[in-house]
Amino acid sequence: MLDEMIEIEEEEHTSQLTTPTFNRIAALVKPHWRWMAGFLAAIMTTAVLDACFTYINKLIIDQGIVPGKFNLVLRYAFVYGVIQMAESGLFFICIYLVGILGERIQYDLRKSTFNHLQDLSLSYFSQNAVGRLMARVTSDSGRISNLMTWGLLDMTWAIVSVFSSTVFMLVINWRLGLIVFSIIPILMLIAINFRKSILKEFRKSRRANSRISGEYNQNFQGVRVVKALGREQENLREFSILTDTMFRASYRAAWLSALFLPTVQIVSAFALGAIVWYGGLQSQIGAFTVGSINAFVSYLTFMIWPVQDLARVYADMQNSIASAERIFKLIDTPPEVQDRPFAVAAETIRGELEFDHVDFYYEDRSPILTDFSLKVKPGETIALVGPTGGGKTTIVNLLCRFYEPKNGCIIINGHDYTEYTLHSLQSRIGIVLQTPHLFSGTIRENIHYGQLGASEGEVEEAARVAGAHDFITSFEKGYDQNVGEGGNLLSVGQKQLISLARAVLAKPEIFIMDEATSSVDTLTEALIQKGMEALMQERTSFIIAHRLSTIRRADRIVVIEAGRIAEMGTHAELLSKHGHYYRLYTQQFKFENAEYTFQSPQSPASLPAA
Ligand SMILES: Nc1ncnc2c1ncn2[C@@H]1O[C@H](COP(=O)(O)OP(=O)(O)OP(=O)(O)O)[C@@H](O)[C@H]1O
Ligand SMILES: [Mg+2]
Repeated sequence: MLDEMIEIEEEEHTSQLTTPTFNRIAALVKPHWRWMAGFLAAIMTTAVLDACFTYINKLIIDQGIVPGKFNLVLRYAFVYGVIQMAESGLFFICIYLVGILGERIQYDLRKSTFNHLQDLSLSYFSQNAVGRLMARVTSDSGRISNLMTWGLLDMTWAIVSVFSSTVFMLVINWRLGLIVFSIIPILMLIAINFRKSILKEFRKSRRANSRISGEYNQNFQGVRVVKALGREQENLREFSILTDTMFRASYRAAWLSALFLPTVQIVSAFALGAIVWYGGLQSQIGAFTVGSINAFVSYLTFMIWPVQDLARVYADMQNSIASAERIFKLIDTPPEVQDRPFAVAAETIRGELEFDHVDFYYEDRSPILTDFSLKVKPGETIALVGPTGGGKTTIVNLLCRFYEPKNGCIIINGHDYTEYTLHSLQSRIGIVLQTPHLFSGTIRENIHYGQLGASEGEVEEAARVAGAHDFITSFEKGYDQNVGEGGNLLSVGQKQLISLARAVLAKPEIFIMDEATSSVDTLTEALIQKGMEALMQERTSFIIAHRLSTIRRADRIVVIEAGRIAEMGTHAELLSKHGHYYRLYTQQFKFENAEYTFQSPQSPASLPAA
């Protein structure tokens, strides 16, 4: 977490605008170019009008006040008012358009990243933490849109302001104009360098700060170990080094921040001095007016702000470019599982199903399934059992095509399942997970999710079939009861019953259940059992089973160990073999309900008495 944060900061510090990134950012704005053209035109006009004010001031002084022509002053005052009103109107338009454009860019970015994230395969999410991913996507798209709106606005305003002020100064007196103009690059350089150094110190201090928090956590959560090992002195020394680093970085940042404005002011003071000196001399021979001196001073003091703005936008731009690159990288990640070019929609997947010499490994490439073959007849119920980490969930992940086999294939209705579209396969598979997920909202909405077109009657019917109706109606609000964030207001058993109802409503052709290992009370367990049976009827089903009651009812039990089929058969067959299943059974289920205790015909004495 900490390392990732530091890595991101480094990335932001070093990223440069490359042509491909620039082109893609430009492509984001292209559909909305009218809004952008509108606000750019408005802000440019505002900047030019700003520069006009100062010039009008000069005219008022030189032509009105100094010669005492007050009717002229009145006329200029009127022009002044009109320009001011025009500028206010333009400001309104500008800020309104920037707001709209920003929202549009963010909307597009969020939509395309959301869409793409949905398409990405499970493998992507097993390598990237979703919470942090979402937070990054949200803040990154905000930054990009900020750069293209407020950033661009500030930059345009600054450039046009400097440019138009310079033009007016050149018109008034080109020699002095050139002198003043020549200090702009100096100011710019100072501003950019200060910004960079200040940011660098801030970054150092932030990094030290997160290390300090980390140290706090470690040392005080593990306070017993620290004390037991007598590490206090040592820890204090390490901690002092960190706080020292942070103190020094913050100190330098404060020092630089304080120094910045005075430095700019000193440089401008030289220019101001030059104006007053040169202007004063010239005015003695009548070549320079009071109004002109005033105008020059105003232009110069005014130009400090655009220069600062430019430096700020420049610094922000680096962050935004890093953000853009992250977002584009995400959008460019191809989903590992995709429809093949000529994939067709499967009419049905009710037929025979076969794992044909399937090999599979995850990203780390250590083999999980090796030469896995299994034929399943339509309507059969398969119980997958075996030690933890054996590969049971992996098998159903492959079946759902969340991942695809690396070698071999999965055959459905006589065709390799990659010949079908993902949607036509996945929409026909109903799955209830080990840790069922509910969405925030009501119980009704959650069941409805199984089939959006279903009527309210069908929703309740599905809940009845799944055995969830009774507990739902016992709630004060019944089906309209809120389930809380991720369903956290309900018990695990209740969540599973609702997931079952959802699966019943979806009427899948293949049903998969990863049974919960967590203990639910016997009544709920019986309900879940009933719901499952309703779903398994006449459907091909794969149950990753932990409960003996489920296992015994399966048509076939497949024992998975280290990615291979260790044994296969019915409960009775497997017990009589005294092999893997027998061991599993005697270890895992011997304390289960007496009702399930099995009497083996061959060796009754060797079985556990419940
Ligand atoms: N996304 C993943 N990336 C890398 N390895 C994984 C991933 N998911 C599972 N594995 C590994 O694959 C092996 C099989 O895992 P799997 O989840 O299929 O086991 P399981 O039989 O379902 O176990 P359990 O009974 O505990 O649910 C394990 O060694 C596990 O560490
Ligand atoms: Mg599992």
